[in-house]
This record gives sequence, structure tokens and C-alpha cells, in this order.
Amino acid sequence: MDALSSVASHPVWFACALALSTALWVRKKRRWAPGTCPVDLSGKTAIVTGANSGIGKYVALDLARRNAHTVLACRSLERGRAALEEIRRATGNPRVELRLLDTSSMASVRDFAQKFLEKNKRLDILVNNAGASGLPHTITVEGLELSFATNVLGPFLLTNLLLDALKASAPARIVNVSSSMHYWGSVDVRCLTGEERMKSSSQVYNSTKLMNVIFTTELHRRLRGTVSVNALHPGIVKTEIMRYYSWWARLLFNMCSFFLKTPKEGATSTIYCAVSQQVEGISGKYFDSDCSLAVPLPLAEDPAIGQKFWEAAERLTGLGGAGEKLGGNK
Ligand SMILES: *[C@@H]1O[C@H](CO)[C@@H](O)[C@H](O)[C@H]1NC(C)=O
Ligand SMILES: *[C@@H]1O[C@H](CO)[C@@H](O)[C@H](O)[C@H]1NC(C)=O
Repeated sequence: MDALSSVASHPVWFACALALSTALWVRKKRRWAPGTCPVDLSGKTAIVTGANSGIGKYVALDLARRNAHTVLACRSLERGRAALEEIRRATGNPRVELRLLDTSSMASVRDFAQKFLEKNKRLDILVNNAGASGLPHTITVEGLELSFATNVLGPFLLTNLLLDALKASAPARIVNVSSSMHYWGSVDVRCLTGEERMKSSSQVYNSTKLMNVIFTTELHRRLRGTVSVNALHPGIVKTEIMRYYSWWARLLFNMCSFFLKTPKEGATSTIYCAVSQQVEGISGKYFDSDCSLAVPLPLAEDPAIGQKFWEAAERLTGLGGAGEKLGGNK
């Protein structure tokens, strides 16, 4: 006991603790923050999917504050309206609008894109943020597995349908919210249709996030720099992403949430990729939650896998018909 307390009170420990906290403080200070970035987006148009809550809402709020014409793409009219009013009130930006989009439905994605393109010629920033985890294994009426449709195929189709508008507004940016959980993901195209079923919803989520990075790097290869597309890890964020889990999983998650980022902090790396001048000219990359470049899982950058997934996604979403072969100038 005596020995223990004398070790614990040794000045070396004190010095270590001081050094560690100084290092953490310096690191935090050096981190990029939206508030210090002066970029103004007047005259530019941005779409944020899943903008009614969590990270998406804070990203939309930031873009609206920078005077962008900001389109909130939300699944629920009611929750979308609440976010719309909140963002309009906080920013005083009248060019914030709400449009309905359910990325699990390819019909909804097509409808959204068509209506958007009827009214808008340009699109400067597309933030693919919408996603869900813990959805039950379900095959949608369009023959797609629900989680993979929501997190992968819907954003894939959306991005491709809007690609001409993005190209016309170059240098435009596509930002894909992935996750460090992609390191645990596995690849199997048959999961997209539910033919192959993954063992757990955690594996499903990890794999959809891996596919996000695969599609990001593949699109980069196809675009050859006309539009930049990057993926990022927002950090482990306390959002409604847990809403489909059981009560005990949510309880555990909430108990650990002391260590987690708030949605506002979690929005930082997404905003960084969407607006920062430091990202200009960078494409096909993966950023960590502290806005630094990181190396994704190697297979996410494998061209053979990228091509295989791209072709499967084209087929499954019905993309690639006449006049729709976008992103395919390979
Ligand atoms: C990310 O980017 C690719 C290519 O643009 C797209 O197909 C993919 O579905 C996007 N969205 C997400 C959330 O990964
Ligand atoms: C998914 O990723 C998390 C880490 O982010 C990991 O703890 C979990 O085990 C992974 N799930 C599977 C099935 O690999």
C-alpha cells in the first residue's frame, strides 16, 4: 500500500500527465475548425442528404451560413420541416429548401434528381451523408437489400444522376460520409440483393461503409479529376444512427457516449471536405475525423473490385440506359 502510493505520487507520473495533456491540447488547437474557415458559398448550390438530424443537420447549417443555396434532402417531411425552420432561423438564409428523398428507394432517388434538375442547372457540393445501421434484413420492392440500398445503391444512383450538373459546376465536390468501421467490412456483391446474407447488422454496416470507399475511389478513377470526390470518417458520433438497435444496445451506447463526439463535432471532417481550400485538387481520398488524410483498407482502392461493384450497381439501379451512362468515360 505504502509502496503503491509512493509510486503513484512520484513526480514522473505528474510530468507524464502534464506532457500528455499538453500534447492533446496542442493537437486539438491545431485541428481544423469550420469557424476559422472564411470560405463563402454565395451563388453556389449544395445538397445534403439526411439533413434533418445529426451530422447532416450541422453540415447543412454550416453551408447555409456560408450563403449557399442549400437543399435539405430528407426522408421525413415533418422532421425535415423542423430542420428547415431551425436552419433558416439560425442563418437568415432564405435559399434553404427541403426536398423529400429516401435513399432506400431508387424510385425516390430518381424522382428527387429529376425535380432538382428541372429547377437547377448547377450543383457545387453533394454531401452523401444519409445512412442507417441496424435495419432488419429486408428485400425492398425493387429487389434490393434494405441496408445496402439505403447506404450504398441509393447514394450511388443519386451521385450519378446529378453528375452532369456537378461537372457543369466544376470545381465541384462530392463528399461521402463513410466510417472507420469500413476497416472491418467485407465485400460481396451478392449482399446488394440479399442473395448472400451477412451474419450481423454490425457486419452489414461495416460493409456498406467499405463499399462507400470503394465507390468513392472508383468514381474518382472514372471522373479523372473533373469533379472531386472524397470519403471521410466523422468520428464516433452520438447520433440517431442507433435508433434501430435494441434498448440495451442503445443504453450501452449512451453510457459510453461521454467519450463520443457530439453531432456538431462529428460534422467537422465533412464540412472540411466540402468547403476547405486545403482540399482543393484532392480527390479519391479518405480523410480521418481530425481532417487528416488516412489510408483506407487497401481493397477499397483495388481497381478490379471497384469496377466489379460499379458494374453491379449500374445493373441493379438501372443506370446505364440511353443517355444515362454517366461517370463511364473510362
Ligand atoms: C460515394 O461516392 C460514390 C461515387 O460517387 C457513390 O456511388 C457512392 O454511393 C457515394 N455515397 C456514399 C454514401 O458512399
Ligand atoms: C464492425 O466494426 C466495429 C469497429 O468499428 C467492430 O467492433 C465490429 O466487430 C465490426 N463487426 C464485424 C462483424 O466485423
